[in-house]
Amino acid sequence: MFENRLFKTLNIKTNDDLKIFSKESKITTAKLKYYNDQGILPFPVDLETILHMTDMSELELKINLGILDNSILDLLQLHSKEVSNILKKDQCEIKPTTKHDFVFETPYGKMYQGDCISLMNTMENGSVDLIFADPPFNLDKIYESGMNDKISDEEYLRWTEEWVLKCVDLLKEGGSLFIWNLPKWNTYISDILNQRLTFKHWIAVDIKYRLPIKNKLYPSHYSLLYYTKGEKANTFNEQRLPLEICRKCGGDIRDYGGYKDKLNTLGINLTDVWYDIPPVRHSKYKTRDSNELSMKLLERVISLSSNEGDLVFDPFGGSGTTYAVSEIMKRKWIGVELGSVDLINKRLNDLDSQKTYIDDIQRNKNTLFTDDMRKLRIKKGHWLPETLMKKNKLPDENKLF
Ligand SMILES: C[S@@+](CC[C@H](N)C(=O)[O-])C[C@H]1O[C@@H](n2cnc3c(N)ncnc32)[C@H](O)[C@@H]1O
Repeated sequence: MFENRLFKTLNIKTNDDLKIFSKESKITTAKLKYYNDQGILPFPVDLETILHMTDMSELELKINLGILDNSILDLLQLHSKEVSNILKKDQCEIKPTTKHDFVFETPYGKMYQGDCISLMNTMENGSVDLIFADPPFNLDKIYESGMNDKISDEEYLRWTEEWVLKCVDLLKEGGSLFIWNLPKWNTYISDILNQRLTFKHWIAVDIKYRLPIKNKLYPSHYSLLYYTKGEKANTFNEQRLPLEICRKCGGDIRDYGGYKDKLNTLGINLTDVWYDIPPVRHSKYKTRDSNELSMKLLERVISLSSNEGDLVFDPFGGSGTTYAVSEIMKRKWIGVELGSVDLINKRLNDLDSQKTYIDDIQRNKNTLFTDDMRKLRIKKGHWLPETLMKKNKLPDENKLF
């Protein structure tokens, strides 16, 4: 909820104030709440009524609501000196952030406990090669750290802006930033980032288990934003996936016609829709009750945008997935978690089975067919790159054309 937008502007503090305003304006309370809670500009007829009642100009109302469309930005630019002089006098004081403490280190990483913004304020700007962030989604979830995951939308977005801007500062030129969130929140985050970094991709990561929601399309993906600092990423290691085949019979799902032999034997180019990221729910690698991301997701991001020895930072430790994968993949890392870091410590002290899992992921990528797929296809008599090559060496009448 945007508690402080329309209602604050209209001096509506209580339900009674709301009812009175609704009666006078003939705008229903539901509609007024909708405008307020969504933080949007009232529709034209209502807007006119509100402006008339409050004796406000549209410009003044828009500024109050934080709706700075291009015509306002043009005006601000035109009068930038005067406006900045007025604002300078009134700059809000910077509130002290909570603290953070160093807890442990590993061969590659350093782990802190406390507030990520407090830690980020002590880190060197332009020092990080890759940032991956998976913040709380403000969905009223219970976190072991006891943090409040149901604040107003406005408060959540203010906090989000604060840590996102710090991430932008910490990123090296050419570094990459990935932010995992609900599509709704990532639309706001994109807005912040578009003015500072280069947009690369909105990656849709397919959600395996969907729950129907009345009057809505089934939410079917998480959003993974991918930005770089500057036009070109320092590191972009191409990732390729095996061909999709029928799980049972091993046959092709698509018809490749005469193009089979043109397929890259290293696999199919990764797209911006990822269907193959498993939920951690039933995995033997699950280390805590909720919000743990798949190591496969982190393996992909880290492989794509960093090299051995690079520095990876994740401001929201959780169960430490980013740190475990970075450690296994020989990336330096810095981690921080508001709650207890005992689980993360334990996880980093017992990497063997997680390493096996990462090895497995890496064996099964950058190839057109994995070993298992290969066996199945040989058994069922389906083509493989080498059988095509053999065939093509034989005189082939069609080839004459
Ligand atoms: C969605 S979880 C991250 C899960 C993690 N990616 C994983 O795979 O385990 C978000 C985490 O951020 C932590 N957190 C919330 N606010 C924080 C803050 N200000 N500083 C550091 N950590 C914070 C929460 O306690 C929670 O564990």
